[in-house]
Amino acid sequence: MCGIVGVVGREAAAPRIFEALKRLEYRGYDSAGIATLVEGRIERRRAEGKLDRLAAVLAAEPLPGTLGIGHTRWATHGAPTTRNAHPHGTARVVVVHNGIIENHAELRAELEAKGQVFETETDTETFARLVDQHLLEGMGAEEAAAAALKRVHGAFALAMIFAGREGLLICARQGAPLAVGFGEGEMYVGSDALALAPLTRRIAYLEEGDHAILDHGTVRFFDAEGRPVQRAVRETSVSGAPTGKGNYRHFMEKELHEHPVVLGDTLAQYLEPAQRRVVLPALPFDARAIPRLTITACGSAFLAGLVGRYWIEQLARIPVDADVASELRYRDPPLPEGGAALLVSQSGETADTLAAMKLLRARGQSCLAIVNVAESSMAREADAALLTVAGPEIGVASTKAFTAQLAVLAGLAIGMGRARGTVSEAEEARLTAELLEVPAHAAEVLERDAEIRAMAAQVAKARDVLFLGRGNLYPIALEGALKLKEISYIHAEGYAAGEMKHGPIALIDDQVPVISLCPSGPLFEKTASNLQEAAARGGRIMAFTDAEGAPALSRFAERVVVLPHAGAFAAPILHAIPVQLLAYHVAVLKGTDVDQPRNLAKSVTVE
Ligand code: F6R
Repeated sequence: MCGIVGVVGREAAAPRIFEALKRLEYRGYDSAGIATLVEGRIERRRAEGKLDRLAAVLAAEPLPGTLGIGHTRWATHGAPTTRNAHPHGTARVVVVHNGIIENHAELRAELEAKGQVFETETDTETFARLVDQHLLEGMGAEEAAAAALKRVHGAFALAMIFAGREGLLICARQGAPLAVGFGEGEMYVGSDALALAPLTRRIAYLEEGDHAILDHGTVRFFDAEGRPVQRAVRETSVSGAPTGKGNYRHFMEKELHEHPVVLGDTLAQYLEPAQRRVVLPALPFDARAIPRLTITACGSAFLAGLVGRYWIEQLARIPVDADVASELRYRDPPLPEGGAALLVSQSGETADTLAAMKLLRARGQSCLAIVNVAESSMAREADAALLTVAGPEIGVASTKAFTAQLAVLAGLAIGMGRARGTVSEAEEARLTAELLEVPAHAAEVLERDAEIRAMAAQVAKARDVLFLGRGNLYPIALEGALKLKEISYIHAEGYAAGEMKHGPIALIDDQVPVISLCPSGPLFEKTASNLQEAAARGGRIMAFTDAEGAPALSRFAERVVVLPHAGAFAAPILHAIPVQLLAYHVAVLKGTDVDQPRNLAKSVTVE
């Protein structure tokens, strides 16, 4: 994780680096730091915690200099303290780093034997001291950096500056993304185009194993073998405009209220409303011919994928395997010849999902990514990408991006069913009509805010919470539990309601809220009877249902929130919104850091 940025500029670098770091804070907020060159000397300012702490340090002790690097950290090696904050290094070189240097222990022992004295436990300092050692042994900066890069293993991106070398910045990529930005007589480097957008729109991405040497007006790229190479410069479409909270208290609240628009925009890409048809761009596989589909992703994106499995199996009658990317990449599953894979990701930078995609492609699977960031590594490296139109999602907990993923998966399931002849034209029209109602229904769900807040007041007192659902709502139960854990720090689990009797029902007592997703439809009776079993044991049932399901549930449930009737197909999209809202309100009541919950980062770029 971590965000890195560098500026080879003509005006004060620190304020510009600080602004870029603000746009990278989604990658981690354990500590932050900036180093610049001041009259040839390296100077650093660092602070534990979020960027406002660094701002205070910079205000007290401003950092001049036009060449600099900066970092926002998600701690991997070493506690999140000021001492362990990047940049790391010596009087001769400082480094910022995103990722993990796997052979750091071995290198550290070697460097200590040569007399290097380490100040931190970080793997980053190992790299900095390796460069430093080469400098001490007489190499120039460029040679020292190249030699050190040859020695390190792992997945990372790095940027470094050198004492006495005004106008020189060296950066490298191996497994973590890095973009070089082109200014007027200035050059920049950043973990993504978003960080650089206020500075420039002209971007070139480093490729695997590349390193680059930047000076005021130019960049020289070198590949993994050290050969000079060219990398394409493109105009990024990422906006440099600041993203604000508007009148909302938190980004998460704002993003929750963007659901109707985001769902409308995303569905508009794949639905033809007049004819009630799904229109998909060309897929990288022939849906009629694939023997199996593998879906993989992490966290909430994986749970969206799980809903996708229900939809695609039901509508397209294709066997679907779904697994979290961190397991799939090491599971070595048998994969059929001519098979296809679906990757789901908001950021498009999640390390495990990218690694799983690499494996799937190497095993001959055609990879289709559902991704929110059009210029992300995943969007660029997949065989094709279907975009969600969620816009920037700043709150660490995924909300609108998750439902937008569902919207694309729903369209894809219908489209694949049509292609395979398992969905008739009439069925396509019916399902498409159901989806077209979703944005308006989402707006109605948001109107239940006060009721959900009242439910949250009860849930906030609990130590453990269960979420139950069946069929395509089972993954939404998992999502409800994940969201609550993530931002309110209350222990929660999601279960398939039919599994209760096989163990979890033992947890039920009058302290445990049982939150169920139970709209009318084919599985209503079954879910309702599972809930009654929990109620009979003192469980406090709270249900999200529709007008048809409400009377039966009201007989034994403590709370019933009535949502619009979405239809059994679109139900997961609509039921995701109240469980996200519930988690939000519980977190606010508990006073947690809603947008930047402890220990988390928005984009998980290390495995
Ligand atoms: C949970 C959440 C995470 C992400 C996961 C994957 O609210 O946001 O579980 O869904 O880290 O991230 P992306 O979608 O960027 O691959």
